Amino acid sequence: MTHRQPNPAIARIVETLKSKGEKVQYSYSYQNAASYVVSTVAIDCILLEWNAHDIAQIRTLVERLSLRHDQTPVFLMVKSAGDNASVDAEVMNRVTETFMVLDDTTDFIVGRLQAAVNRYEKIMMPPLMAAMMEYAKEKEYSWSAPGHQGGVGFCKTAVGRKFYDFYGENIFRTDMGIERASLGSMLDHTGAFGESEKYIARVFGAHRSYSLVVGTSGANRTIMQACLTDKNIAICDRNSHKSIEQGLMLTGATPVYMTPTRNAYGIIGPIPKKQMSAEYIRGQVAESRFAALLEEKRPAYSIVTNCTYDGLIYNGDIIQNMLGESCDRIHYDEAWFGYSRFNPIYKGFHAMRDDKKRMRKMLRLFSLLTLRINCSMRCLRHLTFICVKGAATLNRRSSTSLT
Ligand SMILES: Cc1ncc(COP(=O)(O)O)c(C=O)c1O
Repeated sequence: MTHRQPNPAIARIVETLKSKGEKVQYSYSYQNAASYVVSTVAIDCILLEWNAHDIAQIRTLVERLSLRHDQTPVFLMVKSAGDNASVDAEVMNRVTETFMVLDDTTDFIVGRLQAAVNRYEKIMMPPLMAAMMEYAKEKEYSWSAPGHQGGVGFCKTAVGRKFYDFYGENIFRTDMGIERASLGSMLDHTGAFGESEKYIARVFGAHRSYSLVVGTSGANRTIMQACLTDKNIAICDRNSHKSIEQGLMLTGATPVYMTPTRNAYGIIGPIPKKQMSAEYIRGQVAESRFAALLEEKRPAYSIVTNCTYDGLIYNGDIIQNMLGESCDRIHYDEAWFGYSRFNPIYKGFHAMRDDKKRMRKMLRLFSLLTLRINCSMRCLRHLTFICVKGAATLNRRSSTSLT
């Protein structure tokens, strides 16, 4: 990007990049370039022509990069050693590499740019997406399921062809079963799927994570089936999604409830703190004629909806400290709250909080989180993550396990 017509060496670099199929967006002023980098995300590499007279504008451009292009490689093009010596330290800090455009050959510079873009793509792409794109590039035949065989099957009928054209080839080429060993298996948590789950755990601050394509309803039921049997008691938020009720039906567990407040307009408030206390829960268990039939009186699982449908959020430590007295597993249904970890205003108000002291306290406790990523974050519908944090083994009182 430069403020005027490029010098011939830069023009040659641009031409060579284009001849290799790269798209180059040219900006005639640093101001234009600064607006472009703020409004456009699809940038793999930035070439910046140094001009000591325009230092203020170049600094602004470099500052703006931090908004959307924190890690995008930036190459500074200088004409001479003298020119290089005038480069501002702030600008230099952000630059990946400097080229003396009159000294190095065009071919060498273009090669270094392409290598930098390849490295950048490797660090930018999450593991599963990178593996799927690589797989699509290899153009493997699909000899088994799915029956559409990379989308070709749809092209045999007029209506199928419309469907195929609507979504495009890549979605069908990468729609595959677990028998395609090159990507590993979602069921065994191996290969790119396993790497992806480790990556998700890191991003969301969990010890382990599992990805599901059965929606958060499926994730909630999965957790409940892993934690509960018909010999167990479950402490349930009355303001829970119906999948929690389904989980109770599937497992046969006996619920005792924490009932949130509700005002005259029907707006549901929070669970009163008192209802999370060990004393209150003991009382609920004592009063339940179904719980009376069970030998094990200590609840095996608890569930809290966070945030609630009315937008209320709970202090994660308070939930953990209070419910933790009655039960070793706390399930936070954060279906609508996947973004909570990424904005400081929600600090402490969600399940996966990272504090070492807190982690020591959690040695006995197990936090389970269902994140309905598709609700409030960008992904295809039905993707959900289960994130697990805490003790290495589940409740000793139960023989079931999530691992
Ligand atoms: C709190 C909560 N949990 C679970 C679900 C179920 O999500 P899904 O539709 O992905 O099964 C919902 C859906 O509205 C929800 O609001």
